[in-house]
Amino acid sequence: MCGIVGYIGKQKASAIILEGLKRLEYRGYDSAGVATLTGSRFDLAKKIGRVAGLIKSTSAQKMPGTTGIGHTRWATHGGVTDANAHPHISSDQKIALIHNGVIENYASIKKFLLTKGYTFQSETDTEVLGNLIAYHYQKEPATSEGSRFVESVRKTLRHVEGTYGIAVMCGDCPAEIVAARKGSPLILGVGDGEYMLASDVSAIISRTQNVVYLKDGEIVHITAKSFSISTLDSEDVSPVIDKVTWRIEDAELGTHAHFMEKEIFEQPAALENSMRGRFSEDGSTAQFGGLNISAVDFRQIDRFHFLACGSAWHACLVAEHLIERFARVPVEVDYASEFRYRNTPLSKNALFFTLSQSGETIDTLAAMREAKRKGYKVLAVNNVVGSSIAREADGGVYQHVGPEIGVASTKAFTSQLLLGAMLALYVGRMRDMSFNDGVDYVHALKGAPDLVRKTLELAPQLKGIAKRYAHYHDFLFLGRLSLFPVALEGALKLKEISYIHAEGYPAAEMKHGPIALISEQCPSVFLVPSGEMFNKVVSSMQEIKARKGKIIAIATEKCDLPAGLADEVILIPECHEAVLPIVATVPVQLLSYYIAVELNRDVDKPRNLAKSVTVE
Ligand code: F6R
Repeated sequence: MCGIVGYIGKQKASAIILEGLKRLEYRGYDSAGVATLTGSRFDLAKKIGRVAGLIKSTSAQKMPGTTGIGHTRWATHGGVTDANAHPHISSDQKIALIHNGVIENYASIKKFLLTKGYTFQSETDTEVLGNLIAYHYQKEPATSEGSRFVESVRKTLRHVEGTYGIAVMCGDCPAEIVAARKGSPLILGVGDGEYMLASDVSAIISRTQNVVYLKDGEIVHITAKSFSISTLDSEDVSPVIDKVTWRIEDAELGTHAHFMEKEIFEQPAALENSMRGRFSEDGSTAQFGGLNISAVDFRQIDRFHFLACGSAWHACLVAEHLIERFARVPVEVDYASEFRYRNTPLSKNALFFTLSQSGETIDTLAAMREAKRKGYKVLAVNNVVGSSIAREADGGVYQHVGPEIGVASTKAFTSQLLLGAMLALYVGRMRDMSFNDGVDYVHALKGAPDLVRKTLELAPQLKGIAKRYAHYHDFLFLGRLSLFPVALEGALKLKEISYIHAEGYPAAEMKHGPIALISEQCPSVFLVPSGEMFNKVVSSMQEIKARKGKIIAIATEKCDLPAGLADEVILIPECHEAVLPIVATVPVQLLSYYIAVELNRDVDKPRNLAKSVTVE
């Protein structure tokens, strides 16, 4: 949440920062701002609304500085106002600062600073940071201005409780930025005669692919010619420069109307990338390079715990079903936000997994730390390389689906479903799954991208249905077993991007309460598999029909649905149980997407949301 960009180089900083902010806008879009430094003067522009509005309003403003910082905000402390937008400038005009995170002890710091004569323009927790840095800067012995600047930031951060990714400029140091992180992501881009700072790589890949992933508790001091990293305890850190593999095209819309649409249609390729090189040579099981745990140790695990939030939590529920079904090992799934405070009794030989596209979700990170504190190994499934969770995990698997920019998760979700299915295979083959069953399973997984391709051809049909159903205010999504989490995902997709109320339920549970909602005004989306659950799901459909509820059925091709039972029937390919949730997800994504488009919603930036939830 909140996007940070910084630049030092030879070019006009404001243009580069605004371009970076556009790419980071999915992290927060309540307000945006930029400040550059010319001599000792800060040029500042900030306003509520989107980056496009800021660009318009700064077009006439002279911001010639070649050092600058910018921010897109997702409001935490203080409403959505121009005054609360970042950057914030200290009341003595010495320090400008942007911040992502939450300063928990801001009230006591503010009280102290008020006694020292500092004043405040905003209601934010952030503003205390700028003023506290200014306070320490005034008190710091006058060695070189640069080291005085770094030391004042270091002293400030030692007093701070909470989380932060910050970038700071000082009026006395025209070509310097000091940045630091704790609990909020921050990356240094090392370009050709220039440096950039950003919350994530999408803001900087157009200028450089060389990056340093800063760690919690590190401070980077950047000048026009060099940079140095140290810790809060003043220890020097040797930087490691990594190469980013994402390409600039991956973060661009191309011919698509929205990133969500682009990412839905990228799913076949994303699945191929997630599984590439991850099957054994004999084609009977999965293999993962980075688990850092031997097969012998893996064999000892008597329980898996999965921790995640949102869509990733739905993916965990599917993994639970498949692991229990194919590997016969018990699985617990917890919301990361609940697990961290629940103090669950845990078995001795448990292994934890966290699932997180961004690898920065604060609840998932904290839950992972809690499991590690209790002495458990935690493996992570992440998409973003070098993310906090990926770095702190004992091992893990990268998703390799490229940047996911649409706020609503799509390709990262189906990739998580695939990796969960592969894990079920991996563990299953260590236990009772036969070679032949393993071969069939691998064959099925390898066919998933093509089945998804085929399912995407249903887009025109779903567009038509969306037109007919966009005016409803309530929806139920119903499924059983591994399709229950897909129902949850369908309901989440619909509500987050179209603002229509939707609930996901196990189909048979519907009659224990939600059936009271059923009327002609509340359609139900049923996920219908052929096979043993078919008749059971059909019975639930009959119960809805008897109450005049409209039914949209997403059914596999062999389902012989009674004539007239469903008002709309979307036929998806028959597939292996491990692949079915992936294929069944595609129509619910398309339905939600087209309904949101029909309602003219801001699909990629739904209200109140932001990608990557880095505050609790
Ligand atoms: C919904 C969605 C969110 C995320 C959740 C976890 O479409 O995208 O529910 O799934 O915020 O995010 P990650 O996977 O980054 O931990």
